[in-house]
Amino acid sequence: MSNSLSPESNDRRTFCKGALAACIGGGVTLIPIGAGISVWLDPLDKKGSGSESTAVKVANLSALPKDGVPRKFSVIARRTDAWTTTPETPIGAVYLLRTGDKTVEALNVVCPHAGCFVDYLPSKGSYLCPCHNSLFALDGKIIDPNSPSPRALDHLRVEIRNDSEVWVEFKNFISGHSEQISQS
Ligand code: FES
Repeated sequence: MSNSLSPESNDRRTFCKGALAACIGGGVTLIPIGAGISVWLDPLDKKGSGSESTAVKVANLSALPKDGVPRKFSVIARRTDAWTTTPETPIGAVYLLRTGDKTVEALNVVCPHAGCFVDYLPSKGSYLCPCHNSLFALDGKIIDPNSPSPRALDHLRVEIRNDSEVWVEFKNFISGHSEQISQS
């Protein structure tokens, strides 16, 4: 009895060897590609803080007048998105006013009508938006019901840390809405 294989068997064996080699080669190639894609996508799994609220140290209590007159401060923060962390840059501005010995209110300076910055008018004790004249009380409420702003100035959460540091959870909100809707 002969051990020699028929031409069909030889062809099948050659085909199987080729297919096995292709599978192994493909796997060897795909593993690094998959690892690369995974590394590239990995930051998406991490929570970025690009558009989220961020508690930022804005001032010291000693910088705020005890009589409750508001002071304007830039909010400077480092931002991190899925791939990058930016150096500290201004992300907005707030008016801070003392409401007690260790209590502070923070208002976003952005007018809720269309996004201009409001100005504090010491002579009137109120904030005026220079774009379309919305007028806001010291606590941010709308003074003139005919003001085009659809809502009061946006309050931000404040925390006093280490007895004297004023930290603000800074957020921007979508303008033109009567409700506060956080920008995302
Ligand atoms: S943007 Fe402030 S009143 Fe229009």
